[in-house]
Amino acid sequence: MPTLPDSPLHFPCGAVMKNRFMLAPLTNRQSHEDGQLSDEELNWLTMRAEGGFGLVMTCASHVQEVGKGFPGQLGIFSDRLIDGHKRLTTSIKKQGSLAVIQLHHAGMRSPAELIHTQPVCPSDDEETNARALTLEEVNQLREDFIAAAVRAKTCGYDGVEVHGAHGYILTQFLSPEINKRMDEYGGSLSNRSRLLFEIVDGIRATCGHDFLLGVRLSPEKFGLDIQEIRTICQQLVDDHSIDFLDISLWDCFKQPDDKRYQDKSLLEHFTSLDRKHVPLTVAGKIRSGKDVQAILDSGVDFVTIGRSGILHHDFPKRVINNPDFEPVKTPVSKEYLFREGLSEKFVDYMRRWPDFVMPE
Ligand SMILES: Cc1cc2nc3c(=O)[nH]c(=O)nc-3n(C[C@H](O)[C@H](O)[C@H](O)COP(=O)(O)O)c2cc1C
Repeated sequence: MPTLPDSPLHFPCGAVMKNRFMLAPLTNRQSHEDGQLSDEELNWLTMRAEGGFGLVMTCASHVQEVGKGFPGQLGIFSDRLIDGHKRLTTSIKKQGSLAVIQLHHAGMRSPAELIHTQPVCPSDDEETNARALTLEEVNQLREDFIAAAVRAKTCGYDGVEVHGAHGYILTQFLSPEINKRMDEYGGSLSNRSRLLFEIVDGIRATCGHDFLLGVRLSPEKFGLDIQEIRTICQQLVDDHSIDFLDISLWDCFKQPDDKRYQDKSLLEHFTSLDRKHVPLTVAGKIRSGKDVQAILDSGVDFVTIGRSGILHHDFPKRVINNPDFEPVKTPVSKEYLFREGLSEKFVDYMRRWPDFVMPE
């Protein structure tokens, strides 16, 4: 029996997603510089909940001020941000969607002019001028990820996703190319992945068994090795308590870059894991109704939609009503994106993505 896009999904923690569509975490630069939620961020995400996403993920949200990666980033690093998040979770949940926040720290990718200090990293990095965290600071980082999850629960989120992908701080720890630490957080794979597992276990222990807990990883670039990322996924399934794996592939239909792994598609490297009861989602160029069904047919439990969800706030409803749905052709006008709930700042950010917004 094929998995239908409108069929509900039960997570191990007990949460139920009404269909198979998750809104990808999407940085949009629309919040206030002090990390407070803005009305623009609230509006853009609320429209996605209204448009039928069963799970609405926030943008990457920083757990320490020094981990800010973007102007206008929504923060989760302080209790003074709680009221804004409560407005957001209330609004998303009113539509019957699950509200989940992505927990993030940019590490060496924090621009110094944004954080007004030297960025931090597992080990000194000349190129970005980032400095190595002390062991005490690594412990604090773990505690701040966990504290952010507890804060998220207080704010009414159904759960959190730990951002271990795309070259940010947890990728920096995982990468043998970047992480040159000589202590228990560097060297072997079990040392490099220690922080991720400690964060996951800490969140589960403090937030409880009914709190949705996902992990996002990406398997390529930044010196990562597909087989190492597969091993981490398998350990998350076997030895840790998570509710979903979110693998960011950037293109779900491509072959691995690394010649050693081209016996299978990049996607198959992850659908072939023994996931037991842990649902898998993937992201990357899932654009049309046919793409959604192809990904579900390949054994993925639910789809994660980025750019098509920016173009169509109601992408899930459209695909459910029409399995042949095709998104609007890009580039689109800024007026089009305003109507889809993006503000000027988000539209400007989308100009950095190739062929998305029509030039002025
Ligand atoms: C504008 C934009 C912002 C993004 N911000 C984040 C983010 O905050 N966290 C994250 O993990 N991925 C982020 N991504 C990656 C997306 O979550 C997604 O994995 C990627 O866009 C591929 O999906 P798509 O082809 O459907 O857009 C971003 C992508 C875009 C286009």
